[in-house]
Amino acid sequence: MVAELHGVMEEVRERTFELVSHLDEAQLTTVLAPIMSPLSWDLGHVAAYEDLWLNHRAAGRELLRDDLAALYDAFETPRKVRGDLEFLRGAELLEYMAAVRQRALEAPVGDGDLHELVIRHELQHTETMLQAMTLAGILPPSFGGPASVSGTGLEFVDVAEGAFEMGAGPSGFAYDNERPRHGEWTDRFSIGRTPITNATWLAFAEGGGYERREWWSDEGWAWKQQYDITHHATAEAGDPDAPVVHVSWFEADAFARAHEARLPTEVEWEKAATWDQLEGVGEVWEWTVSYFTGYPGFIAYPYREYSEVFFGDHYRVLRGGSCATHPRVASLQFRNWDLPERRQLFAGVRIAR
Ligand code: AVJ
Ligand code: FE
Repeated sequence: MVAELHGVMEEVRERTFELVSHLDEAQLTTVLAPIMSPLSWDLGHVAAYEDLWLNHRAAGRELLRDDLAALYDAFETPRKVRGDLEFLRGAELLEYMAAVRQRALEAPVGDGDLHELVIRHELQHTETMLQAMTLAGILPPSFGGPASVSGTGLEFVDVAEGAFEMGAGPSGFAYDNERPRHGEWTDRFSIGRTPITNATWLAFAEGGGYERREWWSDEGWAWKQQYDITHHATAEAGDPDAPVVHVSWFEADAFARAHEARLPTEVEWEKAATWDQLEGVGEVWEWTVSYFTGYPGFIAYPYREYSEVFFGDHYRVLRGGSCATHPRVASLQFRNWDLPERRQLFAGVRIAR
């Protein structure tokens, strides 16, 4: 297991560098979008996290660079101020990443959970970096969008009422927010066999989707007015048969209402996805109606700031993973979350009734 985890760490790092290999130093260090970090900050943060969890916590060593701890702490240094900071860049950044890695390969592996945490953290940040690249129009040339699906998104499959075991089981790695596994119940429901496609989204937009007040929540309408959201550029440019992507929760919710439907709950989504009749899972994150909260009996692990501080009625849960998500992260129990106005995620919509 040790050699395998070390191999994965090295492969993941190679992939990370590959994803930014088309960019120059200016693109790596500038603020690509106000809501995102400079890409070099993400790279330094990934290394600092590895140093904290593998070298400091697991191996009991001092941090390699104590002076960087606050700079790369996501809470002490929120995204909106990261552009102003003296984060590492250029050769100094690469040296820091390599030095952390060299020490990490000597750290005790234990049950492997901290290594898995570090691996998946880097994979999650590469998706965040791809979001920033999307906003700046500088995605890697090799990056394809979501693959096309065989439906429009408006065909439904029925799921019978009944009990369902939700969440990750007790063994193996899972995030704290996926545990404990617990019993749930759903009434009978229908859910889209595929995510909504670009063509279906365009029909919504052309049918007054961004004008019909009655389809929007109060908050969604206020957001739309404030930012003058009148159409969906990526849906217009994309393959008509591919899932629509870069949709906010507000838009997804309005789309569902316009089709006398709603977004699925997280419980419905996981039940239907594990039941295995859904096409297109893993192409685009799928917004659910559910707020991000802890399952009954939740215990924070290994730190409160991974999940717990985000619980409440601000963040909505997304499920499934996207074309920008590495498969190691995108399990059917994995819970992603973000604010309802966000459009930079590789997120689409699957509706339910
Ligand atoms: C699970 C994607 C919402 O990016 O805020 C990265 C993952 N946590 N570093 C995020 C994460 C700490 C998290 N999401
Ligand atoms: Fe992070």
